[in-house]
Amino acid sequence: MKHHDIELPFGKICQAPQKSPKKVVLLVFALLLLTIIPLYYPSISQSLFVSETVNSNPLVPSSSSSSQDHLNDHVHEEDDLPSVTSNLKCDIFTGEWVPNPEAPYYTNKTCWAIHEHQNCMKYGRPDTEFMKWRWKPDGCELPIFNPAQFLELLRGKSLAFVGDSVGRNQMQSLICLLSRVEYPIDVSITPDPTQKFIRWKYMSYNFTMATFWTPHLIKSKAATYTNGPTKTGLFELYLDEFDEAWTTQVEEFDYIILSAGHWFFRSMVYYENQKISGCHYCLLDNVPDVGIFYGYRKAFRSAFKAINSLQNYKGITYVRTFAPSHFENGLWNQGGNCLRTMPFRSNETQLEGANLELYMIQIEEFRNAVKEGRKKGLKYRLLDTTQASLLRPDGHPSRYGHWPHENVTLYNDCVHWCLPGPIDTWSDFLLEMLKMEGMRSAEEKKLMMSKDRRLN
Ligand SMILES: *[C@@H]1O[C@H](CO)[C@@H](O)[C@H](O)[C@H]1NC(C)=O
Ligand SMILES: *[C@@H]1O[C@H](CO)[C@@H](O)[C@H](O)[C@H]1NC(C)=O
Ligand SMILES: *[C@@H]1O[C@H](CO)[C@@H](O)[C@H](O)[C@H]1NC(C)=O
Ligand SMILES: *[C@@H]1O[C@H](CO)[C@@H](O)[C@H](O)[C@H]1NC(C)=O
Repeated sequence: MKHHDIELPFGKICQAPQKSPKKVVLLVFALLLLTIIPLYYPSISQSLFVSETVNSNPLVPSSSSSSQDHLNDHVHEEDDLPSVTSNLKCDIFTGEWVPNPEAPYYTNKTCWAIHEHQNCMKYGRPDTEFMKWRWKPDGCELPIFNPAQFLELLRGKSLAFVGDSVGRNQMQSLICLLSRVEYPIDVSITPDPTQKFIRWKYMSYNFTMATFWTPHLIKSKAATYTNGPTKTGLFELYLDEFDEAWTTQVEEFDYIILSAGHWFFRSMVYYENQKISGCHYCLLDNVPDVGIFYGYRKAFRSAFKAINSLQNYKGITYVRTFAPSHFENGLWNQGGNCLRTMPFRSNETQLEGANLELYMIQIEEFRNAVKEGRKKGLKYRLLDTTQASLLRPDGHPSRYGHWPHENVTLYNDCVHWCLPGPIDTWSDFLLEMLKMEGMRSAEEKKLMMSKDRRLN
């Protein structure tokens, strides 16, 4: 059986997307009308109960009945979820950026939640075009974020961001988007001005949002005996040990958004079974350099294992896929910068090299987590922001994340995202997925019921 959660979004990397035959398209419209299920989210199509709907409903135009019969046969034969519907889906994560003169939906004057280093306008970024785009999936629409709808959907619920500063960047973007309706209050047990661990509450909605700082997802710390070959720190990663800073805290949450990436580019020493098992660019005697991907994979594996072993967690885990940086003419610590002011079109760039590798590792480990999670009734979803983010070299602070004379580690920041900016779109994706989740579980229920009926 195919799982749409884990299908790759980039046709050009794996294979060209299959064209739907005309009769299938007709059927889509019929189903669309009948069931009012938007087909534009990949995961939903899997749970479309094609045979039941089409058979029992007299409203299907007769012109397309022969193709339906054919499809129905097919469906009954398989006695599984209809594979034919996989052609009918619209993947919201594949598309183009198109102009949106109405954006942005907040400014640094209306929103206080913008992190200093992402407040690009404050630090003199001269251009504003980068705020004025929206994501247009191929073959369907992605609605612009609706803050009232989001808060209504999450009334009485809780959402945890688990990851690094890009995760925090996303959370602050969400706070700004929601600020048109309501600001949260800080209900953290211990106040944290760096917002690495913070708990927000939307009082009118009884909605809790928290962030848990864990740049490597697993237990890690900065080595004290050396600053590493790049002089930007050497990190000790315990690949088989959970980072209890988040794993002991997330059990109660309804949703987790898990992400990690850029910290793995730094020098790291890996530990497994409490012994050094290798490193990435550590230049230490007798420590084999096994590279960044080794650690990245194991870190995700351990993080998923941690989630799957939580006793009382019943939430949905969203894996926010890797968001590439856009350094050009040098690495982040070698004078690289991001000076573009326009998005790429999808035919102008593609995921490759380390970005592709990191992405694929996430997909593979996600796939395993889906399987393991299913045994425990836990759901995983892919918040697949990679392609949309890849196309936004113009969305980073560059040198406008601080005053020119300030000495900061990431002088030209081509990793984080200006607010407002393209990262706001991640909330468009999230809301769309949350909406689909509701429909999806309704469909799953119906599917179960119809299967029961057939068995009786
Ligand atoms: C917002 O940006 C403007 C420039 O557009 C800047 O002058 C101002 O200081 C910023 N305000 C805050 C509160 O960051
Ligand atoms: C608020 O939400 C929590 C779950 O997050 C729930 O346990 C609690 O009863 C809710 N409180 C109110 C007043 O609805
Ligand atoms: C990309 O596609 C656009 C529109 O389809 C076209 O105008 C442009 O020439 C293409 N660019 C490249 C590099 O192929
Ligand atoms: C920036 O700060 C680092 C340590 O924080 C220091 O080693 C370096 O010399 C400083 N660079 C400049 C240009 O001041």
